[in-house]
Amino acid sequence: MDKKDKSDYKLFIRFDDMSQGELAAFNRILMEIYRLRGLDFRQYRPKCLRRRIVTRLHAHSVKSFAKYIEILHNDPQELDRLLGVMTINVSEFFRNPETFEKVRLRILPEILEIKKRPSSHLIRIWSAGCATGEEPYSIASIFHTVLFKGFKLRVLATDIDEDALAVARKGCYHRKELSGLNEKQQHRIFNKIEEDRLTVKPLFRDLVEFRRHNMISDPAPRLMDLVFCRNVVIYFKKELQRKVYENIHRSLNPGGFLVAGKVEAMLGVAEDLFEIYDLNERIYRKRN
Ligand SMILES: C[S@@+](CC[C@H](N)C(=O)[O-])C[C@H]1O[C@@H](n2cnc3c(N)ncnc32)[C@H](O)[C@@H]1O
Repeated sequence: MDKKDKSDYKLFIRFDDMSQGELAAFNRILMEIYRLRGLDFRQYRPKCLRRRIVTRLHAHSVKSFAKYIEILHNDPQELDRLLGVMTINVSEFFRNPETFEKVRLRILPEILEIKKRPSSHLIRIWSAGCATGEEPYSIASIFHTVLFKGFKLRVLATDIDEDALAVARKGCYHRKELSGLNEKQQHRIFNKIEEDRLTVKPLFRDLVEFRRHNMISDPAPRLMDLVFCRNVVIYFKKELQRKVYENIHRSLNPGGFLVAGKVEAMLGVAEDLFEIYDLNERIYRKRN
């Protein structure tokens, strides 16, 4: 959005059950986020945005968006808390383990087959919307075996949220956050630094590059063999989902793979761009 467009924000999003005053206040909150942080939430699903912002109203026991704007103005930390709920970066290691198993057993060998030409020994994987790092580190931990076969590996992990990226870069997690992993997996991926804190082993951490990237407005990275984009586009309106899938299509090499989220219906939005590889696990392949 250009700076000059800012006035469009005033009533860009409408809800039938809101008064004009509340509607204006709601839109002003979005405008403030854009003014202060340059993040444009207009293309996100309105109901989803509203639900999230309302959680902050509840946290302060206020009932109106207008009152909440006062809090935003008076409490310098509130904007970060609000952005925290608007971008929710919930994730976990090996989220949907059966998907990772399919990637390990089926996609990894397919990629090695494509990459065995001496000119293309570098495998590139993009974790788009990587939140606090669990997804890219899981990817690195299953793909690092390719290093012993003479391949190189880079995992690019991007997110719009700097705070989430800061956590991700540290690669340090509380044992409670790893409850989905058994002892053996924990031992394989982490070093123990304190009784309850574990840190990702350098072997895996060094394979991942974290970078801030907005999937809506920044150019997509190129030459990817595999893209994970899970539980991100679900928050976008249909037109925007299409644009994001076009970008992912552009970022993939011929024959490249996309792993979408279990809840995401890519078909209907971009089936001309991708063919089904495994519908159960939402794995698709780039159409050329
Ligand atoms: C629910 S998390 C998904 C994490 C991981 N992919 C997974 O499935 O476990 C969604 C992430 O998408 C990020 N996100 C939201 N809008 C984004 C955008 N426009 N560009 C890049 N990342 C975005 C959020 O900051 C959040 O970290």
